[in-house]
Amino acid sequence: MKPRRSILSVPGHVEKMHHKVCQSQVDVVMLDLEDSVPIDAKEKARELVIRSLLSLDWQEKTLTIRINGLDTPFAYRDLLEVAEAAGHMIDAIVIPKVNNAGDVDFVSRMLDGIELNKGFSNPIGIEASIETAVGLERATEIAAASDRTKTLVFGIADYSASIGARLVSISGHGEKEEALYPGHRWHFAISRMVMAAKAHGLMAIDAPYGNFKDPVGLERAAVMACALGCDGKWAIHPDQIEIINQVFSPSQEDIDRAIKVLKAHEKAEAEGRGAVAVEGRMVDRATVRLARQLFEQAKHLKMVQ
Ligand code: COA
Ligand code: MG
Repeated sequence: MKPRRSILSVPGHVEKMHHKVCQSQVDVVMLDLEDSVPIDAKEKARELVIRSLLSLDWQEKTLTIRINGLDTPFAYRDLLEVAEAAGHMIDAIVIPKVNNAGDVDFVSRMLDGIELNKGFSNPIGIEASIETAVGLERATEIAAASDRTKTLVFGIADYSASIGARLVSISGHGEKEEALYPGHRWHFAISRMVMAAKAHGLMAIDAPYGNFKDPVGLERAAVMACALGCDGKWAIHPDQIEIINQVFSPSQEDIDRAIKVLKAHEKAEAEGRGAVAVEGRMVDRATVRLARQLFEQAKHLKMVQ
């Protein structure tokens, strides 16, 4: 799967932002029909998103569309109209506030019909937003619901509302949070979602950092999400892309070490030995798996041959 380090949410009704994101270095563009779009602009956003999908030069970017929640009057038309008109351009549909496997199944079956009807050869994927208490409780069944699913995404503002927690900002554990709670307030929720995602071969994506004028806090939040097993993080402003890409890319030092570990392991295997030491650290099969994962990621990002 292509890297999904950074995902920029782009309001569907603001045309100039569609042009702007094309110039950026973001891995994934998420054209949004949901919460960044006012109710009276829902139809305009849908039309504009279709037009942009068909007419702009998206280069190598992965394109996703966030439809409205399945409990709104807008979602089914979002799915139908956008996927019919531009399904061949879309990598995945982002479903907000997924509560159970049925939500994923509904979208998946609609896509079955649309793909057959339109003769699309590349299946459209699904990204499921985990942003309710019930969604997190059922993260495992949601992750397993469809072969189309590529990622689980944590939605921090809606999740806070869903559990009745005080939302200081949508900047997660970065902003003002340490005064409120000693430690990482979202550790459990993110880890729970990551576990469900990884158990089913999906990527796990962290929520956006709301304060786009705070690069230090953004970097810290991204580093923590990366340490918890996330593969990327949403952004809401183009200024956040570079930091997120950098945090979720392996460093040259990490790559060099992974190569050393893989070479040492190869040699140990040839000599019939198990665990060995590399630069004063133990290397066994688990460490080798981690090194291989990092090396594969670096290959994806064209950082190694
Ligand atoms: N996607 C694409 N372009 C964006 C962008 C985005 N999400 N956010 C800002 N830009 C563009 C602006 O249009 C502006 O372009 P210009 O230089 O050509 O005029 C440039 O980046 C700088 O923007 P700036 O003036 O700093 O921000 P703003 O005041 O215009 O917008 C927000 C601030 C928060 C309203 C805006 O970033 C936004 O709408 N973000 C997305 C919100 C969203 O999607 N929420 C739902 C997901 S959680
Ligand atoms: Mg949300």
